[in-house]
Amino acid sequence: MTEKHPIGVFDSGLGGLSVLTTLVDGLPNEDFIYLGDVARLPYGTRSPAVVKRYVGTCVKFLQSQGVKLIVIACNTATATALEAMQKESSIPIFGVIEPGVRAAVAASTGKRVLVLATEATVRSEAYLREFQRQAPAFFVEQVACPLLVPLAEEGWFDHEVTELVLEKYLRRARNPEFDTILFGCTHYPLLEKSFRKVLGSECALVHSADLLTGEVRELLRQRDWSHPAQAGGKLRFLSTDHLPAAMPIVSSLFGEGASFEVIDL
Ligand code: DGL
Repeated sequence: MTEKHPIGVFDSGLGGLSVLTTLVDGLPNEDFIYLGDVARLPYGTRSPAVVKRYVGTCVKFLQSQGVKLIVIACNTATATALEAMQKESSIPIFGVIEPGVRAAVAASTGKRVLVLATEATVRSEAYLREFQRQAPAFFVEQVACPLLVPLAEEGWFDHEVTELVLEKYLRRARNPEFDTILFGCTHYPLLEKSFRKVLGSECALVHSADLLTGEVRELLRQRDWSHPAQAGGKLRFLSTDHLPAAMPIVSSLFGEGASFEVIDL
């Protein structure tokens, strides 16, 4: 009866809700358990060993909830721990880097991509390796943008301070001739309006969520694991610490209705 089991979606915090919305839209009959490790956020400034330990704890917890597969929506967690988790796991585990690079390769007209991500993701060079594997002819540069995570958490999606911070970060690109920006962090797609104001309409802005949803759908089809239409579509939100009552990032994506159960991990 695997088909009736939920899908686990994991992020270091709430940014992964931007991935969850696409998964829910694309797989409306599936049940989802979302786990945001807000107690340990941010992952992006931590060492690989610590991130691996945190991810291991969260993945084990989701497995204990009987999920049929896990989506690691967090780029930092994918960059640092996906391979290790996949080796140890008896259920499929998806990450966001491979589909993110595929999306950028498909969108780019000039083969010049700027990857924006956390410090840990940039340091891991996981995106550079994946571009090398999928599209070695591409010119790819990475810039770490740690301040964008708290700006998104604060709900400053379309805000002059966000624009100012973006301008500073974008100036760090050694070669400013990129035609595509790949959002290598779950929080950044939420800031799209500010990106557009700074960059204009020419530059493509891409992230992994659509192609990732396609990969998950394909696996469910191949294994005959798709949830039957009746009574599916339930969402359960879990976090490892209390959240403030008003969370702009949550209400902007799921309305005021999304309530989080706090779990002790
Ligand atoms: N969710 C993380 C990511 O996608 C960013 C936030 C963090 O630093 O934990 O990389």
